[in-house]
Amino acid sequence: MKQLENFSIEQFQADLINWFEAEQRDLPWRKDQDPYKVWVSEIMLQQTRVETVIPYFTNFVTSFPTIESLAHADEEKVLKAWEGLGYYSRVRNLHAAVKEVAEKYDGQVPNTVEGISSLKGVGPYTTGAILSIAYGVPEPAVDGNVMRVLSRILSIWDDIGKPKTRQLFEEIVRELISKENPSAFNQGLMELGALICIPGNPACLLCPVQGHCRAFAEGVQKELPVKSKKKAPTALSMSAVVLKNEKGQLVIHKRPSKGLLANLWEFPNHESMIEFSTQKEQLSDFLKNEFGIEAKLGEAFTTIQHVFSHLIWNITVFDGTLFGDVKETDTVKLVDQEEIKQYTFPVSHQKILKSFLEHEKAKGSE
Ligand code: ADE
Repeated sequence: MKQLENFSIEQFQADLINWFEAEQRDLPWRKDQDPYKVWVSEIMLQQTRVETVIPYFTNFVTSFPTIESLAHADEEKVLKAWEGLGYYSRVRNLHAAVKEVAEKYDGQVPNTVEGISSLKGVGPYTTGAILSIAYGVPEPAVDGNVMRVLSRILSIWDDIGKPKTRQLFEEIVRELISKENPSAFNQGLMELGALICIPGNPACLLCPVQGHCRAFAEGVQKELPVKSKKKAPTALSMSAVVLKNEKGQLVIHKRPSKGLLANLWEFPNHESMIEFSTQKEQLSDFLKNEFGIEAKLGEAFTTIQHVFSHLIWNITVFDGTLFGDVKETDTVKLVDQEEIKQYTFPVSHQKILKSFLEHEKAKGSE
């Protein structure tokens, strides 16, 4: 293909792989090539930094060391092991897919493109990563980092936000990848993107493939990759409440099984409207209508901001005291401070709890 004309493919492979083998970081998922562990690591590493992933990975494979153990694990425990990593649909898909591998493939992760890419949550990137790293199959594993690296090396100016551009890079990697060592080749590209060919200002003077790099030769490495701007996230104004009864138990609610943060637990909350009534009045009506809860709402003791890729929550948090009983259901519970630890909360609601406990302590010592 035209992007690879006059490009020394074999010399590039050798330079990249030799550098990777000498300089690669010692990461827990590189200790063995167990396809299950490679899979877990690649799912965790999507949208999440290596340093963040390391302790989660170690904990996860200690709690669920095999396909069978994860397949049979309780959903609540699996979510808990992911608490704080974000993008929770990743772990729900992983759990469903691992159950399928246990049932349909006798616990063996498939080693073909068709088998693996039909699993829930396994797209082209993860398919290529697992096949190349665990099974030595020369499949491309193209994510944003690999597109950044290759757009510089080959001076490609297509918008990496477009699906067609990813396909172009996959075709390029099919030709470029080492057929002898696809694992070190793909991981070498990832490692180069993480350590040297970083966003913004890459460390070209340390680069093992600088001699192959067209962007470096042209002095345009900082202008690549080309990426169209995403639209700005929508900001929502929300209010939440930490409601306590006379026994010191708190009201928590389970989110619906579909959509954002599905099945995670939270403090009762809703989106505020710009109206004549105050946030507190709206919250009081919401508690009555949604949960049949009568409560005396107190002060707003903190505000929490949480930024998702497409959305920003600005949450004003109130405290409150319950009048009478709450009807407990599968999705509404009263829990004490010990019990609450077993439930999985999104980071924003972990922050609410932490702030509430500090606020209570400060009130107590007044
Ligand atoms: N990013 C994505 N996959 C990775 C891997 N296997 N090692 C390091 N960083 C990665």
